[in-house]
Amino acid sequence: MAERTYAESSASSPPHDAAAPWSPASWHAHPAAQSPGWPDGDLVRAVVDDLRTLPPLVFAGEARTLTRALGSVADGRAFVLQAGDCAESFSDQSADQIRDKLRVILQMAVVLTYAAGVPVVKLGRIAGQYAKPRSSPVERVGDTEMAAFRGHIVNDDAPVPSARVPDPRRMLTAYHHSASTLNLLRAFTKGGFADLSQVHAWNQEFVATSAEGRRYEAIAEEIDRTLRFMRACGVDLSDGAPIQQVDLYTSHEALLLDYEEAMTRRDSLTGDYYDCSAHMLWIGERTRQLDGAHVAFLQGVGNPIGVKLGPGTTPDEAVELCELLNPGRVPGRLTLISRLGVGKVTSLLPPVVRAVTDAGHPVVWECDPMHCNTFAAEGGRKTRHFDDVLGEIRGFFAVHRSEGTWPGGVHVELTGDDVTECLGGVEDILEEQLPLRYTTTCDPRLNARQSIDLAFRVAELLRT
Ligand code: PEP
Ligand code: CO
Repeated sequence: MAERTYAESSASSPPHDAAAPWSPASWHAHPAAQSPGWPDGDLVRAVVDDLRTLPPLVFAGEARTLTRALGSVADGRAFVLQAGDCAESFSDQSADQIRDKLRVILQMAVVLTYAAGVPVVKLGRIAGQYAKPRSSPVERVGDTEMAAFRGHIVNDDAPVPSARVPDPRRMLTAYHHSASTLNLLRAFTKGGFADLSQVHAWNQEFVATSAEGRRYEAIAEEIDRTLRFMRACGVDLSDGAPIQQVDLYTSHEALLLDYEEAMTRRDSLTGDYYDCSAHMLWIGERTRQLDGAHVAFLQGVGNPIGVKLGPGTTPDEAVELCELLNPGRVPGRLTLISRLGVGKVTSLLPPVVRAVTDAGHPVVWECDPMHCNTFAAEGGRKTRHFDDVLGEIRGFFAVHRSEGTWPGGVHVELTGDDVTECLGGVEDILEEQLPLRYTTTCDPRLNARQSIDLAFRVAELLRT
Protein backbone atom coordinates (compact mmCIF):
# COMPACT_ATOMS: atom_id res chain seq x y z
CA MET A 1 0.00 0.00 0.00
CA ALA A 2 1.43 3.39 -0.97
CA GLU A 3 2.70 5.47 1.88
CA ARG A 4 0.91 8.74 2.32
CA THR A 5 1.68 11.81 4.35
CA TYR A 6 -1.01 13.57 6.26
CA ALA A 7 -0.84 17.30 5.82
CA GLU A 8 -3.65 18.55 7.97
CA SER A 9 -4.28 17.37 11.46
CA SER A 10 -7.57 17.38 13.29
CA ALA A 11 -8.35 17.60 16.95
CA SER A 12 -8.69 14.00 18.08
CA SER A 13 -6.19 11.76 19.82
CA PRO A 14 -3.87 9.86 19.76
CA PRO A 15 -1.50 12.29 18.04
CA HIS A 16 -0.11 10.98 14.79
CA ASP A 17 3.29 11.74 13.29
CA ALA A 18 2.51 13.40 9.94
CA ALA A 19 5.33 11.62 8.11
CA ALA A 20 4.71 8.16 9.56
CA PRO A 21 3.55 5.23 7.42
CA TRP A 22 -0.04 4.04 7.68
CA SER A 23 -1.14 2.40 10.90
CA PRO A 24 -4.62 1.42 12.18
CA ALA A 25 -4.54 4.67 14.23
CA SER A 26 -3.54 7.00 11.37
CA TRP A 27 -7.13 8.15 10.92
CA HIS A 28 -7.01 10.11 14.19
CA ALA A 29 -5.03 12.80 12.34
CA HIS A 30 -8.00 13.45 10.03
CA PRO A 31 -11.42 14.95 10.56
CA ALA A 32 -13.90 12.13 11.20
CA ALA A 33 -17.43 12.96 10.04
CA GLN A 34 -20.38 11.39 11.83
CA SER A 35 -18.53 10.80 15.11
CA PRO A 36 -20.87 9.61 17.84
CA GLY A 37 -19.64 12.17 20.40
CA TRP A 38 -18.81 9.65 23.11
CA PRO A 39 -19.35 11.30 26.49
CA ASP A 40 -16.54 9.40 28.23
CA GLY A 41 -13.18 9.13 26.42
CA ASP A 42 -11.63 6.89 29.10
CA LEU A 43 -14.40 4.34 28.68
CA VAL A 44 -13.91 4.36 24.90
CA ARG A 45 -10.22 3.60 25.34
CA ALA A 46 -10.96 0.81 27.83
CA VAL A 47 -13.47 -0.79 25.45
CA VAL A 48 -11.09 -0.50 22.50
CA ASP A 49 -8.37 -2.17 24.60
CA ASP A 50 -10.79 -5.02 25.41
CA LEU A 51 -11.79 -5.42 21.76
CA ARG A 52 -8.13 -5.67 20.77
CA THR A 53 -7.76 -8.79 22.89
CA LEU A 54 -10.72 -10.58 21.25
CA PRO A 55 -10.28 -12.96 18.30
CA PRO A 56 -10.73 -11.70 14.73
CA LEU A 57 -14.17 -12.42 13.23
CA VAL A 58 -12.83 -13.18 9.76
CA PHE A 59 -9.43 -14.17 8.45
CA ALA A 60 -7.21 -12.30 6.05
CA GLY A 61 -7.15 -15.26 3.66
CA GLU A 62 -10.95 -15.10 3.32
CA ALA A 63 -10.77 -11.39 2.52
CA ARG A 64 -8.17 -12.13 -0.17
CA THR A 65 -10.42 -14.84 -1.65
CA LEU A 66 -13.24 -12.29 -1.80
CA THR A 67 -10.97 -9.78 -3.54
CA ARG A 68 -10.27 -12.41 -6.21
CA ALA A 69 -13.98 -13.17 -6.58
CA LEU A 70 -14.74 -9.46 -6.91
CA GLY A 71 -11.87 -9.25 -9.40
CA SER A 72 -13.86 -11.50 -11.69
CA VAL A 73 -16.82 -9.12 -11.25
CA ALA A 74 -14.56 -6.20 -12.23
CA ASP A 75 -13.58 -8.23 -15.33
CA GLY A 76 -17.24 -8.78 -16.28
CA ARG A 77 -17.25 -12.51 -15.52
CA ALA A 78 -19.46 -12.50 -12.42
CA PHE A 79 -22.13 -10.47 -10.63
CA VAL A 80 -22.27 -9.38 -7.00
CA LEU A 81 -25.34 -9.38 -4.80
CA GLN A 82 -24.81 -7.26 -1.68
CA ALA A 83 -27.87 -7.41 0.54
CA GLY A 84 -29.20 -7.27 4.05
CA ASP A 85 -30.61 -4.97 6.69
CA CYS A 86 -30.18 -1.23 6.66
CA ALA A 87 -29.31 -1.55 10.34
CA GLU A 88 -29.01 -4.84 12.17
CA SER A 89 -30.64 -4.76 15.56
CA PHE A 90 -29.40 -6.19 18.87
CA SER A 91 -32.97 -7.37 19.52
CA ASP A 92 -33.85 -9.00 16.17
CA GLN A 93 -31.08 -11.58 16.08
CA SER A 94 -32.93 -14.83 16.55
CA ALA A 95 -31.75 -17.92 14.69
CA ASP A 96 -34.95 -17.84 12.63
CA GLN A 97 -34.44 -14.24 11.59
CA ILE A 98 -30.85 -14.87 10.55
CA ARG A 99 -31.91 -18.01 8.68
CA ASP A 100 -34.72 -16.22 6.88
CA LYS A 101 -32.43 -13.40 5.76
CA LEU A 102 -29.95 -15.97 4.49
CA ARG A 103 -32.75 -17.83 2.69
CA VAL A 104 -33.83 -14.82 0.69
CA ILE A 105 -30.23 -14.00 -0.27
CA LEU A 106 -29.72 -17.62 -1.39
CA GLN A 107 -32.98 -17.52 -3.35
CA MET A 108 -32.02 -14.30 -5.10
CA ALA A 109 -28.60 -15.73 -5.92
CA VAL A 110 -30.18 -18.90 -7.36
CA VAL A 111 -32.51 -16.84 -9.54
CA LEU A 112 -29.63 -14.68 -10.77
CA THR A 113 -27.30 -17.61 -11.36
CA TYR A 114 -29.88 -19.84 -13.02
CA ALA A 115 -31.85 -17.30 -15.00
CA ALA A 116 -28.91 -15.15 -16.06
CA GLY A 117 -26.21 -17.81 -16.16
CA VAL A 118 -23.55 -15.80 -14.32
CA PRO A 119 -21.71 -16.72 -11.12
CA VAL A 120 -22.94 -14.62 -8.21
CA VAL A 121 -20.72 -13.37 -5.40
CA LYS A 122 -22.86 -13.28 -2.26
CA LEU A 123 -22.15 -10.48 0.17
CA GLY A 124 -24.39 -9.90 3.20
CA ARG A 125 -24.93 -6.58 4.93
CA ILE A 126 -24.81 -8.79 7.98
CA ALA A 127 -22.87 -9.78 11.10
CA GLY A 128 -21.68 -6.24 11.84
CA GLN A 129 -24.01 -3.69 10.17
CA TYR A 130 -24.70 -1.79 13.39
CA ALA A 131 -23.49 1.80 12.80
CA LYS A 132 -25.63 4.39 11.02
CA PRO A 133 -24.70 7.78 9.57
CA ARG A 134 -27.43 10.39 9.98
CA SER A 135 -28.47 13.41 7.94
CA SER A 136 -29.30 15.31 11.13
CA PRO A 137 -27.60 14.85 14.54
CA VAL A 138 -30.94 15.40 16.28
CA GLU A 139 -34.46 14.10 15.93
CA ARG A 140 -37.76 15.54 17.16
CA VAL A 141 -40.31 13.17 18.65
CA GLY A 142 -43.50 15.04 19.52
CA ASP A 143 -42.29 18.09 21.42
CA THR A 144 -39.02 16.55 22.51
CA GLU A 145 -35.73 16.97 20.71
CA MET A 146 -33.17 14.19 21.20
CA ALA A 147 -29.93 12.91 19.69
CA ALA A 148 -30.48 10.85 16.54
CA PHE A 149 -30.29 7.06 16.65
CA ARG A 150 -26.84 6.08 15.31
CA GLY A 151 -27.18 2.31 15.24
CA HIS A 152 -27.14 -0.18 18.09
CA ILE A 153 -23.34 -0.07 18.27
CA VAL A 154 -23.68 3.53 19.52
CA ASN A 155 -27.08 4.09 21.17
CA ASP A 156 -30.61 2.71 21.41
CA ASP A 157 -33.45 3.50 19.04
CA ALA A 158 -36.11 4.03 21.77
CA PRO A 159 -37.61 7.52 21.30
CA VAL A 160 -36.48 8.94 24.65
CA PRO A 161 -33.43 11.20 25.22
CA SER A 162 -31.81 8.87 27.80
CA ALA A 163 -31.73 5.98 25.28
CA ARG A 164 -29.85 8.10 22.80
CA VAL A 165 -26.77 8.75 24.97
CA PRO A 166 -23.83 7.06 23.19
CA ASP A 167 -22.47 4.14 25.20
CA PRO A 168 -19.09 2.75 24.06
CA ARG A 169 -19.76 -0.58 25.81
CA ARG A 170 -22.18 -1.25 22.96
CA MET A 171 -19.10 -1.89 20.76
CA LEU A 172 -18.42 -5.04 22.79
CA THR A 173 -22.06 -6.11 22.46
CA ALA A 174 -21.85 -5.51 18.70
CA TYR A 175 -18.75 -7.68 18.52
CA HIS A 176 -20.49 -10.55 20.32
CA HIS A 177 -23.64 -10.25 18.21
CA SER A 178 -21.50 -10.22 15.07
CA ALA A 179 -19.65 -13.32 16.27
CA SER A 180 -22.83 -15.29 17.00
CA THR A 181 -24.49 -14.23 13.75
CA LEU A 182 -21.41 -15.17 11.77
CA ASN A 183 -21.13 -18.49 13.58
CA LEU A 184 -24.68 -19.40 12.60
CA LEU A 185 -24.13 -18.23 9.02
CA ARG A 186 -21.02 -20.38 8.75
CA ALA A 187 -23.00 -23.35 10.08
CA PHE A 188 -25.87 -22.77 7.64
CA THR A 189 -23.68 -22.18 4.60
CA LYS A 190 -21.21 -25.00 5.24
CA GLY A 191 -23.31 -27.48 7.18
CA GLY A 192 -26.03 -28.52 4.73
CA PHE A 193 -28.72 -25.83 4.78
CA ALA A 194 -27.29 -24.07 1.71
CA ASP A 195 -26.92 -27.36 -0.21
CA LEU A 196 -28.46 -26.85 -3.65
CA SER A 197 -30.61 -29.91 -3.11
CA GLN A 198 -32.39 -27.83 -0.40
CA VAL A 199 -33.44 -25.25 -2.96
CA HIS A 200 -37.17 -25.85 -2.26
CA ALA A 201 -36.72 -25.50 1.48
CA TRP A 202 -35.52 -21.89 1.12
CA ASN A 203 -38.95 -20.86 -0.15
CA GLN A 204 -40.83 -19.65 2.94
CA GLU A 205 -44.53 -20.33 3.08
CA PHE A 206 -45.64 -16.72 2.67
CA VAL A 207 -43.42 -16.50 -0.40
CA ALA A 208 -44.29 -19.87 -1.93
CA THR A 209 -47.96 -18.93 -2.29
CA SER A 210 -47.20 -15.72 -4.25
CA ALA A 211 -46.54 -15.26 -7.97
CA GLU A 212 -42.80 -14.71 -7.37
CA GLY A 213 -42.72 -17.75 -5.11
CA ARG A 214 -44.26 -19.93 -7.80
CA ARG A 215 -41.81 -18.59 -10.37
CA TYR A 216 -39.01 -19.46 -7.98
CA GLU A 217 -40.47 -22.96 -7.44
CA ALA A 218 -40.31 -23.54 -11.19
CA ILE A 219 -36.58 -22.82 -11.18
CA ALA A 220 -36.12 -24.97 -8.08
CA GLU A 221 -37.88 -27.84 -9.87
CA GLU A 222 -35.57 -27.49 -12.88
CA ILE A 223 -32.53 -27.48 -10.60
CA ASP A 224 -33.83 -30.62 -8.90
CA ARG A 225 -34.32 -32.32 -12.23
CA THR A 226 -30.78 -31.34 -13.30
CA LEU A 227 -29.34 -32.75 -10.07
CA ARG A 228 -31.29 -36.00 -10.54
CA PHE A 229 -29.98 -36.21 -14.09
CA MET A 230 -26.40 -35.64 -12.96
CA ARG A 231 -26.70 -38.31 -10.26
CA ALA A 232 -28.20 -40.72 -12.79
CA CYS A 233 -25.19 -40.06 -15.01
CA GLY A 234 -22.90 -41.08 -12.16
CA VAL A 235 -21.74 -37.61 -11.08
CA ASP A 236 -20.87 -37.76 -7.39
CA LEU A 237 -22.86 -35.04 -5.61
CA SER A 238 -22.27 -36.42 -2.14
CA ASP A 239 -19.90 -35.16 0.55
CA GLY A 240 -17.61 -32.37 -0.54
CA ALA A 241 -19.31 -31.54 -3.84
CA PRO A 242 -19.30 -27.77 -4.54
CA ILE A 243 -23.11 -27.68 -4.65
CA GLN A 244 -23.25 -28.55 -0.96
CA GLN A 245 -21.73 -25.35 0.34
CA VAL A 246 -22.02 -21.64 -0.32
CA ASP A 247 -19.55 -18.82 0.24
CA LEU A 248 -21.40 -15.99 1.91
CA TYR A 249 -19.18 -13.05 2.75
CA THR A 250 -19.94 -10.38 5.35
CA SER A 251 -19.82 -6.60 4.97
CA HIS A 252 -20.82 -3.42 6.73
CA GLU A 253 -20.22 0.30 6.60
CA ALA A 254 -16.89 1.11 8.26
CA LEU A 255 -18.37 4.10 10.05
CA LEU A 256 -17.31 3.70 13.66
CA LEU A 257 -13.55 3.89 13.37
CA ASP A 258 -12.84 3.21 17.06
CA TYR A 259 -14.35 -0.24 16.52
CA GLU A 260 -12.75 -0.84 13.12
CA GLU A 261 -9.32 0.20 14.42
CA ALA A 262 -9.61 -2.25 17.33
CA MET A 263 -10.54 -5.07 14.93
CA THR A 264 -7.62 -4.40 12.59
CA ARG A 265 -4.87 -6.97 12.88
CA ARG A 266 -1.62 -7.73 11.10
CA ASP A 267 -1.86 -10.88 8.98
CA SER A 268 0.85 -13.32 10.00
CA LEU A 269 1.22 -14.66 6.44
CA THR A 270 1.69 -11.40 4.54
CA GLY A 271 2.44 -8.86 7.26
CA ASP A 272 -0.37 -6.66 5.90
CA TYR A 273 -3.14 -5.15 7.98
CA TYR A 274 -6.71 -6.46 7.61
CA ASP A 275 -9.85 -5.16 9.26
CA CYS A 276 -11.06 -8.46 10.68
CA SER A 277 -14.55 -7.21 11.62
CA ALA A 278 -15.88 -8.26 8.17
CA HIS A 279 -14.68 -9.50 4.80
CA MET A 280 -15.63 -6.29 3.00
CA LEU A 281 -16.05 -2.76 4.34
CA TRP A 282 -17.48 0.29 2.66
CA ILE A 283 -17.34 4.06 3.13
CA GLY A 284 -20.73 5.78 3.16
CA GLU A 285 -21.87 8.79 1.19
CA ARG A 286 -21.51 11.08 4.23
CA THR A 287 -17.96 10.04 5.14
CA ARG A 288 -16.11 9.81 1.81
CA GLN A 289 -14.24 13.15 2.11
CA LEU A 290 -10.88 12.81 0.34
CA ASP A 291 -9.00 14.18 3.37
CA GLY A 292 -11.28 12.55 5.92
CA ALA A 293 -10.65 9.87 8.51
CA HIS A 294 -12.66 7.12 6.81
CA VAL A 295 -10.69 7.28 3.57
CA ALA A 296 -7.46 7.53 5.58
CA PHE A 297 -8.42 4.41 7.53
CA LEU A 298 -9.59 2.12 4.73
CA GLN A 299 -6.59 3.08 2.58
CA GLY A 300 -4.39 0.89 4.70
CA VAL A 301 -6.40 -2.29 5.18
CA GLY A 302 -6.01 -5.21 2.81
CA ASN A 303 -9.74 -6.08 2.58
CA PRO A 304 -11.83 -5.42 -0.51
CA ILE A 305 -13.54 -2.08 0.07
CA GLY A 306 -16.38 -0.02 -1.36
CA VAL A 307 -17.40 3.64 -1.55
CA LYS A 308 -20.90 5.02 -1.98
CA LEU A 309 -21.18 7.70 -4.63
CA GLY A 310 -24.14 10.07 -4.30
CA PRO A 311 -25.47 12.70 -6.71
CA GLY A 312 -22.88 15.28 -5.62
CA THR A 313 -19.91 13.15 -6.74
CA THR A 314 -17.81 14.80 -9.45
CA PRO A 315 -15.92 12.64 -11.96
CA ASP A 316 -12.62 14.04 -10.60
CA GLU A 317 -13.60 13.09 -7.06
CA ALA A 318 -14.40 9.54 -8.15
CA VAL A 319 -11.00 9.21 -9.82
CA GLU A 320 -9.27 10.69 -6.77
CA LEU A 321 -11.01 8.14 -4.53
CA CYS A 322 -9.74 5.37 -6.82
CA GLU A 323 -6.20 6.76 -6.64
CA LEU A 324 -6.30 6.96 -2.85
CA LEU A 325 -8.04 3.64 -2.19
CA ASN A 326 -6.61 1.47 -4.94
CA PRO A 327 -3.31 2.96 -6.09
CA GLY A 328 -2.14 -0.52 -7.09
CA ARG A 329 -5.17 -0.88 -9.40
CA VAL A 330 -5.94 -4.35 -8.10
CA PRO A 331 -9.15 -5.70 -9.68
CA GLY A 332 -11.66 -6.51 -6.92
CA ARG A 333 -10.05 -4.23 -4.36
CA LEU A 334 -12.47 -1.36 -4.97
CA THR A 335 -16.23 -1.33 -5.55
CA LEU A 336 -17.89 1.96 -6.49
CA ILE A 337 -21.50 1.90 -5.33
CA SER A 338 -23.55 4.52 -7.13
CA ARG A 339 -26.75 5.74 -5.41
CA LEU A 340 -28.09 8.50 -7.57
CA GLY A 341 -31.86 8.15 -7.74
CA VAL A 342 -34.15 6.92 -10.48
CA GLY A 343 -34.46 10.38 -12.04
CA LYS A 344 -30.74 11.17 -12.11
CA VAL A 345 -28.84 7.94 -12.74
CA THR A 346 -28.76 8.21 -16.52
CA SER A 347 -27.44 11.78 -16.48
CA LEU A 348 -25.05 11.64 -13.50
CA LEU A 349 -23.48 8.20 -13.89
CA PRO A 350 -21.98 8.37 -17.43
CA PRO A 351 -19.35 11.10 -16.74
CA VAL A 352 -18.24 9.29 -13.58
CA VAL A 353 -17.94 5.93 -15.38
CA ARG A 354 -16.05 7.56 -18.24
CA ALA A 355 -13.56 9.35 -15.96
CA VAL A 356 -12.80 6.23 -13.91
CA THR A 357 -12.46 4.08 -17.04
CA ASP A 358 -10.25 6.64 -18.81
CA ALA A 359 -8.01 6.78 -15.72
CA GLY A 360 -7.51 3.01 -16.09
CA HIS A 361 -9.06 2.00 -12.77
CA PRO A 362 -10.47 -1.54 -12.63
CA VAL A 363 -13.50 -1.19 -10.34
CA VAL A 364 -16.60 -3.18 -9.58
CA TRP A 365 -19.63 -1.03 -10.50
CA GLU A 366 -22.49 -1.67 -8.12
CA CYS A 367 -25.91 -0.01 -8.00
CA ASP A 368 -27.54 0.92 -4.70
CA PRO A 369 -31.08 1.71 -5.85
CA MET A 370 -32.34 2.33 -2.32
CA HIS A 371 -30.79 5.40 -0.72
CA CYS A 372 -31.72 8.07 -3.25
CA ASN A 373 -35.27 6.82 -3.74
CA THR A 374 -36.44 7.27 -0.17
CA PHE A 375 -39.31 9.58 0.73
CA ALA A 376 -41.71 10.16 3.61
CA ALA A 377 -45.16 8.66 3.12
CA GLU A 378 -48.35 10.06 4.63
CA GLY A 379 -47.85 9.80 8.40
CA GLY A 380 -44.10 10.38 8.13
CA ARG A 381 -42.88 6.79 7.61
CA LYS A 382 -39.81 6.54 5.36
CA THR A 383 -40.49 4.36 2.35
CA ARG A 384 -39.36 3.51 -1.19
CA HIS A 385 -41.36 2.39 -4.19
CA PHE A 386 -40.43 -0.90 -5.85
CA ASP A 387 -40.76 0.77 -9.27
CA ASP A 388 -38.18 3.44 -8.36
CA VAL A 389 -35.79 0.78 -7.06
CA LEU A 390 -36.16 -1.20 -10.28
CA GLY A 391 -36.05 2.00 -12.34
CA GLU A 392 -32.66 3.03 -10.95
CA ILE A 393 -31.29 -0.46 -11.65
CA ARG A 394 -32.59 -0.26 -15.23
CA GLY A 395 -30.91 3.16 -15.64
CA PHE A 396 -27.67 1.75 -14.20
CA PHE A 397 -27.72 -1.14 -16.70
CA ALA A 398 -28.51 1.21 -19.59
CA VAL A 399 -25.58 3.49 -18.73
CA HIS A 400 -23.11 0.62 -18.46
CA ARG A 401 -24.37 -0.94 -21.68
CA SER A 402 -23.82 2.32 -23.55
CA GLU A 403 -20.44 3.00 -21.92
CA GLY A 404 -19.22 -0.53 -22.65
CA THR A 405 -18.65 -1.26 -18.94
CA TRP A 406 -19.99 -4.15 -16.87
CA PRO A 407 -22.94 -3.53 -14.55
CA GLY A 408 -21.32 -5.57 -11.81
CA GLY A 409 -23.90 -5.81 -9.08
CA VAL A 410 -26.71 -4.54 -6.93
CA HIS A 411 -26.72 -3.41 -3.31
CA VAL A 412 -30.11 -3.70 -1.62
CA GLU A 413 -31.70 -3.42 1.80
CA LEU A 414 -33.95 -6.40 2.51
CA THR A 415 -35.20 -8.74 5.15
CA GLY A 416 -36.53 -12.29 5.17
CA ASP A 417 -39.47 -11.10 7.28
CA ASP A 418 -42.91 -10.39 5.82
CA VAL A 419 -42.68 -6.63 6.38
CA THR A 420 -44.61 -3.77 4.78
CA GLU A 421 -41.91 -1.11 4.48
CA CYS A 422 -41.45 -0.57 0.72
CA LEU A 423 -44.38 0.23 -1.57
CA GLY A 424 -45.42 -1.64 -4.71
CA GLY A 425 -44.14 -4.94 -6.06
CA VAL A 426 -46.36 -7.72 -7.33
CA GLU A 427 -48.45 -7.69 -4.13
CA ASP A 428 -48.67 -3.90 -4.55
CA ILE A 429 -48.17 -2.63 -1.01
CA LEU A 430 -50.02 0.67 -0.59
CA GLU A 431 -49.24 3.64 1.66
CA GLU A 432 -52.08 2.78 4.04
CA GLN A 433 -50.60 -0.71 4.51
CA LEU A 434 -47.18 0.53 5.68
CA PRO A 435 -48.12 0.54 9.41
CA LEU A 436 -49.15 -3.14 9.28
CA ARG A 437 -45.66 -4.60 9.67
CA TYR A 438 -43.15 -1.75 9.69
CA THR A 439 -40.32 -2.98 11.93
CA THR A 440 -37.06 -1.55 10.57
CA THR A 441 -34.86 0.36 13.01
CA CYS A 442 -33.66 2.57 10.17
CA ASP A 443 -34.43 2.51 6.41
CA PRO A 444 -37.33 0.64 4.76
CA ARG A 445 -36.41 -2.82 3.41
CA LEU A 446 -37.75 -4.97 0.60
CA ASN A 447 -39.60 -7.99 1.96
CA ALA A 448 -38.81 -11.51 0.76
CA ARG A 449 -41.38 -11.45 -2.07
CA GLN A 450 -40.26 -8.06 -3.36
CA SER A 451 -36.62 -9.23 -3.16
CA ILE A 452 -37.24 -12.35 -5.25
CA ASP A 453 -39.29 -10.35 -7.72
CA LEU A 454 -36.37 -7.93 -8.01
CA ALA A 455 -33.94 -10.81 -8.59
CA PHE A 456 -36.05 -12.02 -11.55
CA ARG A 457 -36.09 -8.51 -13.03
CA VAL A 458 -32.32 -8.12 -12.62
CA ALA A 459 -31.78 -11.56 -14.18
CA GLU A 460 -33.77 -10.41 -17.21
CA LEU A 461 -31.59 -7.30 -17.48
CA LEU A 462 -28.45 -9.45 -17.23
CA ARG A 463 -29.68 -11.79 -19.95
CA THR A 464 -30.33 -9.06 -22.49
C1 PEP B 1 -26.66 2.69 4.01
O1 PEP B 1 -26.10 1.96 3.17
O2 PEP B 1 -27.43 2.26 4.87
C2 PEP B 1 -26.41 4.16 3.93
C3 PEP B 1 -26.61 4.95 4.95
O3 PEP B 1 -26.03 4.51 2.71
P1 PEP B 1 -25.43 5.90 2.16
O4 PEP B 1 -24.11 6.09 2.81
O5 PEP B 1 -25.31 5.61 0.69
O6 PEP B 1 -26.43 6.97 2.45
CO1 CO C 1 -29.94 2.36 4.68
